[in-house]
Amino acid sequence: MKGLILSGGHGTRLRPLTHTGPKQLIPIANKPVLYYAIEDLKEAGVTEIGLILGTNMPEKVQEAVGDGSRFGVNITYIMQGEPKGLAHAVAVAQEFVGDESFIMYLGDNILKSGIMEFVEGFEDSDYQARILLQPVENPRQFGVAELDNNGNVINLVEKPEHPKSDLALVGIYLFKSSIFEAITQIKPSWRGELEITDAIQQLLNSNLKVDSHIVRGWWKDTGKPEDVLDANHLILDMLESQINGEVEDGAKISGRVFIGKGSRIKKNTVIRGPVSIGENCEIDAYIGPYTSIGDNSVIKGGEIESSIVVGDAVIKCNERIIDSLIGNHSHIISMENSLPKGYRFIIGENSLVNI
Ligand code: G1P
Repeated sequence: MKGLILSGGHGTRLRPLTHTGPKQLIPIANKPVLYYAIEDLKEAGVTEIGLILGTNMPEKVQEAVGDGSRFGVNITYIMQGEPKGLAHAVAVAQEFVGDESFIMYLGDNILKSGIMEFVEGFEDSDYQARILLQPVENPRQFGVAELDNNGNVINLVEKPEHPKSDLALVGIYLFKSSIFEAITQIKPSWRGELEITDAIQQLLNSNLKVDSHIVRGWWKDTGKPEDVLDANHLILDMLESQINGEVEDGAKISGRVFIGKGSRIKKNTVIRGPVSIGENCEIDAYIGPYTSIGDNSVIKGGEIESSIVVGDAVIKCNERIIDSLIGNHSHIISMENSLPKGYRFIIGENSLVNI
């Protein structure tokens, strides 16, 4: 079985972070989202992987992933050019896939439990596709599936106005090569894209069988800042402690904390895990739970909690930073001798304001 990972798209909802790189390289617990997909495929025994690149700085993905040997896989780069939808991305990979079964993994999706169970038994079955599903509260934002009592898929609609179920399509799919023929039969959707959801519906229209599997554990599509922060929470919940840097006497570290090599934790620091700190950082501050700090960052004074600092950042201020996503090479610095800050209130009778 081969693997396809989609790493295109403009990442508009993650601007300005995606002005300087593709969204699939945004780190979750100090590791690019895309690496989790590669590791899941490797764990499921898929080592021939086609990585489909878009137009938003594809060379950065090539630089980060290389030939895949670091992950124990073989990467072939496939250029999609202008993104014209997920089914279009699959179509450009036809030559790479050939006649084999394959798994398609959207490079901005992240799953708790990997894909081993999902992949099992598909190649030898007579199903032409298997989709991964999860019940969600907001199905209208996803592709939605309707199932019969045996878990066979009856019907699929992309972002339906009136969803027939709460089962959203997770961005991970298994296909036989019959999908390529189905893709030639579909038309662009209202958003101008060739939807993979429509191609799978096309298989059903041709009386071919499509199977489904419900995700165990959490799943996140990291398309928006709040989803990236949620994914960071979820991954840090599984973090294992490891201290490779230097911790000065007096620094207080509690909970599960990872500290990369070359990092220095100064004596007045307090770190409450789960926290992941990359390499060559200098920390002299309060770092609260669910924070990831990328390589070569300096954090001095103040507090930071439940946030991602991508890396090469300088944060020197006496403020409290929470639920923030701070891009590469950002500086957040307090102005010395600045005037006291002002508050603007419009408050009614009997108000209580605690500052
Ligand atoms: C895409 C698919 C959708 C699926 C989702 C999962 O949506 O079209 O069916 O539910 O990925 O992440 P998009 O992210 O393109 O809106």
